[in-house]
Amino acid sequence: MPHEFHLKTASLALKATGILVLYVAEDAVPAGAAAAAWQATGLDWARVAAAARFRGRQGQAVGILVPAGLDADRLLVLGTGKPGQGDSLSGWADRGGSLVSKLAGLKADRVAVLLDDEAATPERVAALAGGMRLRHYRYDRYRTPKKDDNGEGGLTVTLHVAGKAAVDRAIADRMATVSGTLLARDLVHRPPNDLGTLEFTAEAARLAELGVEVEVLDQPALAALGMNALLGVAQGSARPPRLVIMRWRGGKGDGAPLAVVGKGVVFDSGGISIKPGAGMEDMKGDMGGAAAVTGLMLALATRKASVDVVGVIGLVENMPSGTAMRPGDILTAMSGTTIEIVNTDAEGRLVLADALWYTQHRFRPQAMIDLATLTGAIGVALGSDHAGLFSNNDELAARLIAAGLESGEKLWRMPMGAAYDKLIESRFADIKNSGGRPAGSITAAQFLARFVNDVPWAHLDIAGVALASPQTETNASWSSGFGVALLDRLVRDHYEAR
Ligand code: BES
Ligand code: MN
Ligand code: ZN
Repeated sequence: MPHEFHLKTASLALKATGILVLYVAEDAVPAGAAAAAWQATGLDWARVAAAARFRGRQGQAVGILVPAGLDADRLLVLGTGKPGQGDSLSGWADRGGSLVSKLAGLKADRVAVLLDDEAATPERVAALAGGMRLRHYRYDRYRTPKKDDNGEGGLTVTLHVAGKAAVDRAIADRMATVSGTLLARDLVHRPPNDLGTLEFTAEAARLAELGVEVEVLDQPALAALGMNALLGVAQGSARPPRLVIMRWRGGKGDGAPLAVVGKGVVFDSGGISIKPGAGMEDMKGDMGGAAAVTGLMLALATRKASVDVVGVIGLVENMPSGTAMRPGDILTAMSGTTIEIVNTDAEGRLVLADALWYTQHRFRPQAMIDLATLTGAIGVALGSDHAGLFSNNDELAARLIAAGLESGEKLWRMPMGAAYDKLIESRFADIKNSGGRPAGSITAAQFLARFVNDVPWAHLDIAGVALASPQTETNASWSSGFGVALLDRLVRDHYEAR
C-alpha cells in the first residue's frame, strides 16, 4: 500500500487484524470494551502492569504480541494520564499523532482503536482521527519510489466507537479542517520552480469547485490601483505578480465579513540585498501565510461554514535582476504613504502594506487578520512553539490566543507602540522598510500598522512555526500548515452563526 491514510469507524467489536489499541487512564484498569478485550487474553492486568512499570501515565505503553483470545498481532495499551489531562481538542489530536508515531516505529500498517469511554465524545474522537492523519502526512511528490519499497508506510485505521453516526459526522467536519492544513503544507513544500505566482493562482482558482468565488488581479490591474509597494517587490522577477481574492459566503450576508490576508512570496532571495546562500532553499516557504489563507478557505468551503470570509493573498517573487528595486528607491504605496527601501529583503511588509490597505477599504471587514512569514527575528524570540501575535485590539487578541490553545497552534502577544514606530522613520520618505536588527519583528508590525486604520486587526508572524520542520505531535514534516487550524477554530468559536 502506498503512503496513504485510510480511516473508518465501526461499532464496538473486538475483531482486529494488525494492532489493537486500548487506552487506560493513570492508576486505572481497562474499562468498557477495553476490559472485554483484556479479559479475552486471559492475562492478569495487575501483574502485567507491574511487570511493565505501566501506570497509565501519558506516553507509557505496554505491548503484548499475539495475545491469546484475540485476532490481533499485537495488543497495545497506552496511558492517557490523569482523568481530564489532555482533554482539550488539541490534547486529543496529540494523542492521535503520538499513536501514529508509535505505529510507524512498529512498522504497523493496520490498527484498530477502542474508543468507547465517556470522555471520548464525537468531537474528541474526531480530533484524534485528525491528529492521526496530520502526523501520517509526508510530502513525497518528488520522490521516486524505491524498487524494494512495496509501499511502506500506508496506514489503515478502524476506530471502534459507541455512537457511530455522530462520530462519523464529527469526523467529516474535522477532516475538512485537516484537509485545509494539508493543502497549506503541500503548497509550502512545493519547490519554487514548480510553484510560482501563476501556479499558486491556479491552486487558489480550484477552490471555485467548492463554491469559493475567486477573483484574480494581474499586473496592470494592480498598477491601476496604485499598489506600487507590492509591485516593487515583483519587478525584479520574470514571474508576474497576482493578487487573489477568495470569498466564501456561507453566512446570511447581513454583516461585514472577516478578512484574512496572506504574504505569498513564492521565493525570497532577498533581492538586491541578497540573502546568504546557506539555507536559502527554505525561502520556497515564504508563501506560508498565503498557503494558510488558501487552506482556510478550503476548510470553510468543505465544511460549508456558516460565515462570510474573504481571503486575500499577495503573490510575488523577490529576485535580484536589472529590473529589481534597489536600496534607496522610494515607492508610493496604494495608501499614498511613501516608503524608502533600505533593504530589499524586507519585502513581505511591502506586499502586505498594499494588500491590507486594499482589503480594509474594499471589504470594510469586521476584523482583519494577516499571516506572514515576516521576520527571522520572531523565530529568535519565540522559537517554533508560538507564533508572534501583534494587534491593535485586545478582544481580537484574546480570541486568537484562546483559539491557539484549543487548536494547538499557539500565539504569544508581542508589544507595539510609539517608541518602536519611531525606528522606521526615514530621512527622505514617510517611513523606511526596515528598522534594522533591534526589535525586528516589532518594527515590521509597526510598518504594517501604518497601513491599517481603525479596523480590529491582528498580525501573525509565522516565520518560526510554518516551515523548517517545526515538529509537534501532529507534524513530522518540513511544513506545518500553521494557521489553518487556528483560524478555523477562531471562526467556529466567534464568527459562525449556529
Ligand atoms: N522571508 C523573510 C523572513 C523569514 C526568515 C521567513 C526565516 C522564514 C524563515 C523576510 O522577508 C526577511 O527576509 N526578513 C528580514 C527582515 C530584515 C531585512 C529587516 C529578516 O528577517 O532578516
Ligand atoms: Mn525577505
Ligand atoms: Zn520574505
